[in-house]
Amino acid sequence: MRIAIDGPAGSGKSTVAKEISERLNLPYLETGLAYRAVGYLLLKHYGMLNDVSWGELRPLLGRLEIEPSVGRTVVRVDGKELGEELRSEEVGRLASLVGTIGKFREYINELFRSVIGKGQVVVEGRDAGTNIIPDADVKLFITASPEERARRRYEQLIGAGKDANYEEVLEKVLERDRRDMERKDYPFKPAPDAIVVDTTGKDLETVLKEVFSILEKVER
Ligand code: C5P
Repeated sequence: MRIAIDGPAGSGKSTVAKEISERLNLPYLETGLAYRAVGYLLLKHYGMLNDVSWGELRPLLGRLEIEPSVGRTVVRVDGKELGEELRSEEVGRLASLVGTIGKFREYINELFRSVIGKGQVVVEGRDAGTNIIPDADVKLFITASPEERARRRYEQLIGAGKDANYEEVLEKVLERDRRDMERKDYPFKPAPDAIVVDTTGKDLETVLKEVFSILEKVER
């Protein structure tokens, strides 16, 4: 089965995608990690940026490798695997700037399609169902209210012993949403044939039940 999972940050889409990959033994491509890896490279090269151009990005791209596998996506830069360094706030902000560049989206989607081939896969991101595998057998759009997504992020930060302010986290969530949805090239929106799963107020178990019951119906 080829499965596309899209949704905004903090919707729970990565948790759902990882779980599907593990239970069904399918390779998992977390596309956001590629955007983040490029954000990480930009940060290393140019420091903090408020704007990113294709000219700045292009020379860095040959250093990136992406490998989907069951339960996780391996991302390497210069042959070295990256992990937690991709999850920082600053790298996330740069990743979202990278996402506004249409030429980059075309380049990276080609690369994604070449690494996944024609086989079974779970692809997760913002445009898996619309652009990466529009031929998917099932497309899920996982979402939650901005307040709930900010609350989850806030609790994650506090849980990790970091300083956090809920209002600031909410403002960042809204800013990220705005940038994704209002960008000129390939704005973020659900595929017309995606099934929407709203996770607001639901625990993980409830969400997974809903998701697996959708997948069972597709398999039959
Ligand atoms: O999914 P994640 O939050 O890790 O993605 C980081 C950023 O990369 C997103 O805010 C989004 O702007 C961008 N992105 C994208 N298209 C994707 C995956 C991520 O534009 N398929």
